[in-house]
Formats: sequence, structure tokens, C-alpha cells
Amino acid sequence: MLDARKNAEQDPSMKRRLTFSLISGVALALAALAAPAHASDSPKHEEKPNRQEWSFAGVFGRYDKAQLRRGFKVYKEVCSSCHSIKMLAFRNLGQPGGPEFSEKEVAELAASYKIKDGPNDTGEYFDRPGRPSDRFPPPFANEQAARAAMSGAYPPDMSVLAKARGYSRGFPTFLFDALPGLAYQEHGVDYIVSLMEGYSDPPPDVKLPTGQFYDPYVPGRRIGMPPPLADGSVTYDDGAPQTIDQYSKDVAAFLMWVAEPHLETRKRIGLGVLSFLIVFAGLLYFTKRKIWSNVAH
Ligand code: HEC
Repeated sequence: MLDARKNAEQDPSMKRRLTFSLISGVALALAALAAPAHASDSPKHEEKPNRQEWSFAGVFGRYDKAQLRRGFKVYKEVCSSCHSIKMLAFRNLGQPGGPEFSEKEVAELAASYKIKDGPNDTGEYFDRPGRPSDRFPPPFANEQAARAAMSGAYPPDMSVLAKARGYSRGFPTFLFDALPGLAYQEHGVDYIVSLMEGYSDPPPDVKLPTGQFYDPYVPGRRIGMPPPLADGSVTYDDGAPQTIDQYSKDVAAFLMWVAEPHLETRKRIGLGVLSFLIVFAGLLYFTKRKIWSNVAH
């Protein structure tokens, strides 16, 4: 290196060549960083979920009520036999910004569930019909019971699942994902959709233990959940297609609402605050000009 520098001092063309190789070196390093990591080529690594269109994405995003209702139906008829949503009360389904079921619908839904209550005056526990203020009863009494029924796997609670799962979109996209306006926060729902659609036969060299299924989108490419959806397994009454694709998008959107019921309010307030800050910055600028206008400089 020292020699090279000494030579460069004597020979300007050498200097140019050195600068050129330095610049191309940095450019190459950046290109290597920016290229998507081809993790999916390796059979051990999962594939990146496909990006979907969501009504609730972006600064002006709002939930699609019809979609939330369909998603709830899929959860109720399919996922709820294994997955709990401990944080969700029946009455939440009637609140603004969600599926917005009527009071009567919520009361009827709650009453169709049996809730464990007690102890009563004689010290006994008993079952009673649910009330809107009750939370959704879990399908299993405890984790051990769930694992025993599921060959050792544990179906996670779905209260915040849509926000607890995600994936890295890689450099440089992840830098933009945090910026207002460009922000992308739908990794969890994208993942759920790809997971539902990704079940497939394992490649010939992969042997799966019993109770495990092959899915290229799951970390490790295997999962202890049997494929829960099939075309036509849930009946929609609003004419939406009854396909795995539609079911998984609807249930993912519903899980997003469960995990973040106040998303619409958050986005509305955020937008208001940003507009205020922009106006305020303008006012501050003109105030500053006025205050300093008489000072010679
Ligand atoms: C037969 C029981 C069963 C049903 C029905 C079921 N699941 Fe699961 N689910 C599981 C089990 C068990 C796991 C844990 C798998 C593991 O740890 O390998 C799981 C895990 C998951 C995960 C987490 C995967 C991860 O990254 O850890 C998601 C998301 C999920 N299920 C979504 C759903 C959705 C959506 C439905 C309804 C359409 C559903 N499940 C229906 C049993 C079920």
C-alpha cells in the first residue's frame, strides 16, 4: 500500500487508477449489501412472504368492515378450534373501527358460548351463557392440554399474533419501512397469508417427522399446524370468493384488527399532528424573519 501510494505520487495516471479502483470497490460492496439475500435458495431457510394489497396500509389506511366480518367467520369456524384470542371480548366486535356488529348480534354471539364462572353460593364452578363483556373462551384448558392434542406443538394465542410475526425485507427497503409516508408495517399479515397458501409437498430429500408439515414460508420450512383451510370450507354470505386465497387474506386482516384495533385513530391523529407541525414550522420561519429583520447583518 505504501509503495502504491509512493508510486501514485510520482505517476498521476496511477493515482487516477487507484481512485477508480477505490470507488468501484465501495460501489461493489454497496451492491452486495443492496442485493436481496438469496436465503430462499437454501433449503434450510424460509422464502420471503409475498407482498399483498391491504386496505389498512399507508397513511390513509382503513379497515374494510366486510373483510373483517368475513375474517371473523373464518377465525370462528376454523382457527378458534386450536387458537385462543384471550384479549378479545365479544363487545369489542361491536366497537367503531372494527367489524361493527350490532348490539343484538354481539349479544346473540356471546350467548352462544359457554363461559366458566363461579364459585357460586355453594362454592361450585358452573357454566353460564356468555355476556358481551366476556372474553372469548380458549379452546384448550391450558398449554399442556393443547400440546398433548397437537403432537407437542402449541398453537399460539392470536391476540397480537399479526404484529408478533414478521420478516426482514432486507437492505435497503427496511430503512424506508420506518419512514412516515413510505412506511410498510404489513409484514405480519403478509406472512400469515403466505403461510396459509404455502403448504406443499416436501422436496424428496426432506423427511418430516409425524405431525409436521412442509411450508417454505415458515422459519425452518416446517410447521406443526395441519393445513387449516380448503377451498369452500367456510360459507360467505356476501358473495366473496370462497377460496383459500380469500379466506387467508380475510382472516389475516381480522387478526390485524385484533392486534391493533385503534389503527384508524392512530393514523388519523398522526396525520393531524404532522400537518400541524408543517404549518407550525412555516409560522416559526416567518416569525424568525420578522424578529431579525431590523438587525443589520
Ligand atoms: C388443528 C389445530 C389448528 C388450527 C385449526 C389452526 N392452527 Fe394455526 N397453529 C396450530 C399449531 C399447533 C401451531 C404451532 C405450530 C408450530 O409451532 O410448529 C400453529 C401456529 C400458527 C401460526 C404461527 C406460525 C409461526 O410463525 O409460529 C399462525 C400464524 C397460525 N397458526 C395461523 C392459523 C390460522 C390463521 C388458522 C385458521 C385459518 C389456524 N392457524 C388454524 C394449530 C392450528
